[in-house]
Amino acid sequence: MNRFAPTKAAGTRTVDDVTGSRRLRRMRKAAWSRRLVQENHLTVDDLIWPIFLVEGENVQEPIAAMPGVFRLSVDVAVREAERAARLGIPAIATFPKVDVSLRDTAGSLILDPDNLTNRATRAIKEAVPEIGVITDAALDPFTSHGHDGVLRDGIIVNDETVEQIAAGAVLQAAAGADIIAPSDMMDGRIGVIRSALDENGFQDVAIMSYATKFDSAFYGPYRDAIGTAGLLQGDKKTYYINAANSAEALRETEQDILEGTDMVMVKPGLPYLDIIRQIKDSFALPTFAYQVSGEYSMIKAAAANGWIDGDRAMMESLLAFKRAGADGILTYFAPTVAEMLKG
Ligand code: PBG
Repeated sequence: MNRFAPTKAAGTRTVDDVTGSRRLRRMRKAAWSRRLVQENHLTVDDLIWPIFLVEGENVQEPIAAMPGVFRLSVDVAVREAERAARLGIPAIATFPKVDVSLRDTAGSLILDPDNLTNRATRAIKEAVPEIGVITDAALDPFTSHGHDGVLRDGIIVNDETVEQIAAGAVLQAAAGADIIAPSDMMDGRIGVIRSALDENGFQDVAIMSYATKFDSAFYGPYRDAIGTAGLLQGDKKTYYINAANSAEALRETEQDILEGTDMVMVKPGLPYLDIIRQIKDSFALPTFAYQVSGEYSMIKAAAANGWIDGDRAMMESLLAFKRAGADGILTYFAPTVAEMLKG
């Protein structure tokens, strides 16, 4: 019941006058019609699952800042890869947590054919050959200072870093990686990695470039996960993209395409949907979004406090990537989503 009678204050034109009897709510009135006109869908085929690796056996270590995410020893990672394959997840991406005692200023451990990443790749590809394995060609898990490059006199040295990463990428390919994903933002890395792979007989190994990686606060929990939170000296502003720039993001993407990347990625995800859309529209190349650790943890934290419905927020955020034009999403929610989509 309306306590106040409508008066002239509401104006004289009716809704039909202003809409010309076009009613967008008609198609929203029932579940069947909403389904019929739904423009974008999330499926298990869209998911890439990033997992964290740690030394040891039968280890499943919780990560405080990422509830529900664990660091896995290689044997457990193999079991989780099997589970992912059963769920229909097309690919996993591995990130190692390396002990500080094994790190140095140049991230030399990337050149060890038996480092944690390469051992995990071999074990996973042997047990679950049908799942795609994406490796992180980056130095930050291996550097004593937490940067993605060789640090000298306070400067991240570009060309030397690229050489180091390209050599590491070849070892990752030799271990069985299907896709090399350089996440460092050094200039020229895609072209140099491509030629190093080709010259070593890995023409079929693909590259997914972190084409546009922004200098972002949303990586916080990840740095805890791989143990660089306390190590990082300064910031990454001299190599990651300024969050204020979109034209530069397009030029970075164009450059990586010219150098031979097969797929591109935008990272972080949700705050950069405009970048995903522009890249997809400009280049029509397989385009991926990385829903990073901070995005994951924000949803988990708000849900744990009862402030939002975590499952709905998860699904809505992932669907938003599809709407923005992404072909797929790297997300820590991957197994949860895959199970929900199944059931
Ligand atoms: C660095 C790297 C980062 C992430 C993966 N590899 C960013 C960083 O620490 O600067 C972030 C992933 C996430 O936040 O989920 N090569």
